[in-house]
Amino acid sequence: MTGLLELLAQTTLAEWMRLSRWGYAIVNTLHVLGIALLVGAIIPLDVRLMGWRRDIELHKLAGLLQPIAITGLALAIAMGGLLFLADPVDYAAMPLFQLKLVFIGLALVNALALNLGPGLAGASAFYLVTAGAISMSLWLTTLGAGRLLAFVQ
Ligand code: HEM
Repeated sequence: MTGLLELLAQTTLAEWMRLSRWGYAIVNTLHVLGIALLVGAIIPLDVRLMGWRRDIELHKLAGLLQPIAITGLALAIAMGGLLFLADPVDYAAMPLFQLKLVFIGLALVNALALNLGPGLAGASAFYLVTAGAISMSLWLTTLGAGRLLAFVQ
């Protein structure tokens, strides 16, 4: 595993991430943009799942917010991968980075279990409240873990 990470660190793209000050800055900014789209869309949806503003039709709200959240997540993952490339061996060894990836994985499992399982229409009110609360906790914890990475390095 360490061998593979060392190979990754030697790629041209990894070198560019380490040497290009503005390249790194732009990738970092796009990572933050992805996070803003993801969290900005997912929190209102989670709050609705948890039972607030039941007067807003859940399907219509999800139809608007889910594509924005998915676009943000895709951008955050792509740009996060590039940031990781700058120092793969050290990031992979950091417990906080490992935890962040676990939180992302759990949040995805939670979202997929609801959407591929009972779905918004078929899930009980208890399921929706629980899924919303788990989603909000996991994405906010992921955001906190990501921000704290810079301080524990
Ligand atoms: C597989 C996906 C992801 C990877 C590989 C990844 C990787 C990284 C890396 C390597 C950094 C730089 C840490 C440093 O400063 O040394 C970072 C920063 C950060 N990440 Fe991610 N990330 C991913 C997804 C996410 C998601 C989904 C969120 C939020 C929900 C997030 C939140 C953050 C935050 C808040 C920062 C700090 C940005 C800043 O203040 O400059 N990341 N990420």
